[in-house]
Amino acid sequence: MDNFKIIEIPKIEDHRGNLSVIEGNLLPFALKRVYYLYDVPSGAYRGGHAHIDQLEFLIAISGSFDVVLTGPNGEKKRITLNRPDKGLLIPNMVWRELEGFSSGAVCLVAASDIYKEADYIRDFKQFINYNSI
Ligand code: TYD
Repeated sequence: MDNFKIIEIPKIEDHRGNLSVIEGNLLPFALKRVYYLYDVPSGAYRGGHAHIDQLEFLIAISGSFDVVLTGPNGEKKRITLNRPDKGLLIPNMVWRELEGFSSGAVCLVAASDIYKEADYIRDFKQFINYNSI
């Protein structure tokens, strides 16, 4: 599973605190939606779906969590996100599961389109079979 990318987010360091910005061509898509997961209870599991068309970019704005990716052939990769200046680009047709949230973790997601339930595959068997149809 190498169908993902870690992208460094430019950082402006300052004694008053750091500032990171996502703009221009940093992401390979035009950003249409931002949402975030927060107040995640310990032991909680999120995700458990793939997108047919949409691309997503995940950032651990605060704290840390693991993202388990599964590709269309069932190959897996676990990635820990724990930096606000690095994000994970997840292409379409990659199954993702989020777990191991630290206390106070915030996961910010930048997406290539507005929320469309029709773009989700929420059944793992359907995801694995999708490419062989
Ligand atoms: P869900 O897909 O289960 O979240 P996660 O990817 O973290 O597992 O979404 C939870 C609920 O929120 C579900 O009813 C759909 C809704 N939702 C929106 O209305 N808009 C959005 O942009 C997102 C991501 C979810």
